[in-house]
Amino acid sequence: MSETSPIDALRALEAEALEAVAEAADASALEGARIAYLGRSEGRISAILRGLGSMPAEERPAVGQEANRVKSVVGEALEARAAALQGGSAASSEDLTLPARGPWKGGLHPITQAIDEIWDIFRDLGFSRARGPEADSVWYNFEALNTPLDHPAADEQDTLYLTDSVLLRSHTSPVQIRTMEAYEPPIRIVAPGWVYRRDTYDATHTPAFMQIEGLVIDEGVTFVDFKGTLAEFARRYWGPDTEVRFRPSFFPFTEPSAEVDVKRVITRPDGTREETDWLEIMGAGMVDPAVIANVGYDPERYTGWAFGMGPARIAMLKHGVSDLRTFFENDVRFLSQFSS
Ligand code: PHE
Repeated sequence: MSETSPIDALRALEAEALEAVAEAADASALEGARIAYLGRSEGRISAILRGLGSMPAEERPAVGQEANRVKSVVGEALEARAAALQGGSAASSEDLTLPARGPWKGGLHPITQAIDEIWDIFRDLGFSRARGPEADSVWYNFEALNTPLDHPAADEQDTLYLTDSVLLRSHTSPVQIRTMEAYEPPIRIVAPGWVYRRDTYDATHTPAFMQIEGLVIDEGVTFVDFKGTLAEFARRYWGPDTEVRFRPSFFPFTEPSAEVDVKRVITRPDGTREETDWLEIMGAGMVDPAVIANVGYDPERYTGWAFGMGPARIAMLKHGVSDLRTFFENDVRFLSQFSS
């Protein structure tokens, strides 16, 4: 008999379908095989089942039974292959012999690190930490600090006013006043915090930035204490060979006033030593007696000194960062360089 029986044809179709399923390399090839054999309109096995009605009645039960068997065998093979492909795709893209990836580790922002390092040194020198509000009054930000409201710093060009008399503090110096009002001398504090100015955002300015205020008030505090303590800070921060220079300057709340510069000595890996340029690190001065009188202390009895430092600037100098904005863009590729 050369004529193929319907049963033989079904078995050949079964073998062909199982091969197609086994060869399907991905989900879409597998779906193609499903449509070709079991698809409702085009599937070749489905077509046989549909054609049963036009078959001679004596052949119908056997062919029907075989067609249903083939349909379920191929259906199971499709399911098994789908499961294998799903599990297999993960297995083939993961090399299980590789060492595990380390957990993602966060780090402190470089400006926070600078504040912590600066604070550590002043704490060792006997200072406490203080703070004050970021929204403060013109009295605390200017007038109590011996700065008349017609001073350029108080101008709306420079300062962000919330109301006529309340502003976003333009420096941390109001914490000097608040601390002296709240405590009796001796006072030795540092006060880090945000300050705000109407500045254009560029490589060296941001409208919000950090400052660290320092204040010392006691009986008999002299210019020598002022210079000596700040020089000691600089040597602890930048190394024992650091030179410190006080340049005459002006602030309404200190007299005399100074800009403090440091010159660092860098030792290269080959042992050669190199001096940096003078770098400005802070404004400072002896507290003006008018400020001491403003908080109700006796300026004949108490003297002191103060400084204001920008930790972002310190961090830029330390890490050789040339654009302040990179500290605020929060690009993890930049920030992760500073985590230990
Ligand atoms: N407040 C000053 C500024 O923001 C810095 C300063 C603080 C100067 C304390 C002297 C004493 O520029």
